[in-house]
Formats: sequence, C-alpha cells, structure tokens
Amino acid sequence: MASLEDLIPTVNKLQDVMYDAGIDTLDLPILAVVGSQSSGKSSILETLVGKDFLPRGTGIVTRRPLVLQLNNIAPDSPLISEYVPNDTTEGVEENGESEMTLEDHLRKNNKSYQPPTKDEWGEFLHLPGRRFYNFKQIRQEIANETARIAGKDKGISKVPINLKIFSPHVLNLTLVDLPGITKVPIGEQPPDIEKQIKNLILEYIATPSCVILAVSPANVDLVNSESLKLAREVDPHGKRTIGVITKLDLMDSGTNALDILSGKLYPLRLGFVGVVNRSQQDIQLNKSVEEALDNEQEYFNRHPVYRTISGRCGTRYLAKLLNQILMSHIRDKLPDIKARLNTLIGQSEQELASLGDTGVITNENRAGLVLQLMNKFATNFISSIDGTSSDIST
Ligand code: GDP
Ligand code: NA
Ligand code: MG
Repeated sequence: MASLEDLIPTVNKLQDVMYDAGIDTLDLPILAVVGSQSSGKSSILETLVGKDFLPRGTGIVTRRPLVLQLNNIAPDSPLISEYVPNDTTEGVEENGESEMTLEDHLRKNNKSYQPPTKDEWGEFLHLPGRRFYNFKQIRQEIANETARIAGKDKGISKVPINLKIFSPHVLNLTLVDLPGITKVPIGEQPPDIEKQIKNLILEYIATPSCVILAVSPANVDLVNSESLKLAREVDPHGKRTIGVITKLDLMDSGTNALDILSGKLYPLRLGFVGVVNRSQQDIQLNKSVEEALDNEQEYFNRHPVYRTISGRCGTRYLAKLLNQILMSHIRDKLPDIKARLNTLIGQSEQELASLGDTGVITNENRAGLVLQLMNKFATNFISSIDGTSSDIST
C-alpha cells in the first residue's frame, strides 16, 4: 500500500544523522483535520493511519481534541519485548488492585500460556505506563476519557487527549483530530458552541507549520464549507491547506464534484482530493481499513466521470500527497542540516589529525572513524533525497 509508511526509512535515516549531529528534531509539520460535524474527519485519519481505533459515527462523537503522536520503532526494538499487560478481562473493574488481568488468569490456570508478541500498541498520557495492544480498547478508552472530562452528554472540552501509537509501520508524525463545527447548541452545549469550537480549532491550525486537511462533504455546497472558511482565516493564500471532499458516494445522482476536484471552483495551492470513507453501515459491518481502501479505489476506477482523474483521487492518493509535503519540508531543512554536519565533520577531522593515523582502532580514534563513516553516509544520503549536489561541503 502506498502510504505514509513509504517515508519511514528516509525519515529514520535522517533522524539518525541529525541525532549524531546534535540536531534534536526534524520538526515535521503537524496535520490537523478541520470540518463540520460528521463530515468524515475521524474516518480519514483512521484510514491514513491504517488502524481502527477512533470513535466515529453520526452526531457529535469527537468532543475533545485528540493529539495523536505516531512513533516509529524498529521491528527489533527492545521496547517490543517489554510486554506490559493491560488487556483486562471483560467486566473487571479497573480500580481494584487485587483484580486479575487476563494474563494473570491464563498464567494461574496454566493454560499453555503464551505472552503476546504484538509490536504495535498505544499509550495515553492520562494512563502512564499502560500499553493498549488491542486497538478496539484504545477506541473505548478515548470514548471513556472524552466522557470523563466533557461529560456524557454532547458537551465539548478543549482539553486534549494525548495518545501515542508505537509501531514499526508508522511515520514519526503528529496528527490532530478535532471536534466538528456545529451551529446549533444541543444537550449540554453552551449557547456559544460554534464560537468555542472555532476558537479551539484555530488554536491548532494557526501554527504556520500545521498542514490543514480542510474537509467538506460533497453533498453540501462548497460555498457553505465551514472548513474552507476557517482555513482561509489562518492560511489566506491557501499554501498549507489541502481540500478533502468526502461522501462523493452520497451526492445526488447526475451531479458530481469534478469542478471542485480540478481546482476550478476554489484556489488551493495543494489542491483538492476526493475520498469515499466507510459509511455508517460499513462501520456496523466492521469493514476493515484495507477493504475500505480497495473499495474506494474501485469506486474511482469505475466511475463514469472520476475515472479520468482516478489517479488523483482517494485516501491512498491523499497519503501520497502528504508524503510529498513532508518530503519538501525535509528538503527545506537540508541546508541547515548540511551546515551543522560540516561543522561536526571539520571538528572530527581536526581531532583525527591531532591523534595521528595509527591505522589501529583505539578508543581514542573510534569516534573519529564513526564520524568519517557518518560523513560518507550523509553525503550519499542527503544527495539522494536532495537531488542536487553530492558534495556535503558545498
Ligand atoms: P467526523 O464527525 O467529521 O469525525 O465524521 P466521522 O468520521 O465520525 O463520520 C461521520 C459519519 O459519516 C459516519 O457514520 C461515517 O461512516 C460517515 N461517513 C464519513 N465519510 C463518508 C463517506 O465518504 N461516505 C459515506 N457514505 N459515509 C461517510
Ligand atoms: Na461525527
Ligand atoms: Mg470525529
């Protein structure tokens, strides 16, 4: 599957080099989804991550910002073998210290106990040290934690839920799922709900390094798109906004979104991408992410109008587009990385010269040799993603 996963090797290598050079972070842009309620924001994020773990559905479901930090770990990371049991048996109270976990039950009953070897898990900031290997339980915890702070009714809260996902199959990246824009207060919502939600969204998307996925459902007129209005407030020239048109499958028959998708109706430098997410029925039938992606592709390939542009439609294409954006961000950072590596390499060369070349690897010159290797590696690596000079000292 063409996805954000494709960037993992590049980003990992670069982060290794940067770590050695004392540069903390690549500062990859944050991606935030913005749109009206039930426009399909959570559905898009879930498909992009490739896991079923976000509460979705009709009505107001996302009621607190979810800051989702994806952490790439090596398949042989020692973290993976540190299994931390969390998955409790159904109905077991969480607070009773004496309650046994499913693990304990199995161990005690000696039923050919096998520790899980799962290499992907989630951890919540509000539950330090607990690993969720079961992504359905992550979804349940998001729902519980939403209710704990924002109430059981329709209330919203600006206090974010922080979730980290550790996996060999994700890119080091932060995604933000946000409550949808609503106009009319319901349940416990205050009279100024619309303003509160908009301010909450603006807090995230005002950051110049935030890439905005401005979601608009195809069955609502684009002139009424709340997401595009909000995005324009912070990104007036449409430089860091991607328009995402959802629910193409729900448009009135005989109508289509070709004009929007071709960029003829609204100017965005990064353009518009049409997607078809899982419907409410698909959710009830537990349709998998993979199946949804295949069905979506098929929808565009077969569509009488969209098939002419099917290569630029769908969630897989959206992932590719995001890849390109992240890649160009990385390229923009290269001059700074090169300069810092040069300084470092210059220092190591001086050190090496002062030690004299004995041809023997001692502890004293080991560091120098490592840096020489790094120099060689960085030269090749940077030129391979930079596409320009292969000489690091230029
Ligand atoms: P959010 O409120 O913007 O996060 O939207 P959700 O992702 O929770 O989706 C709201 C509802 O719309 C769910 O029932 C989804 O199944 C449905 N939905 C989202 N996108 C699409 C789509 O492209 N096509 C169809 N048919 N349903 C969709
Ligand atoms: Na919803
Ligand atoms: Mg949502």
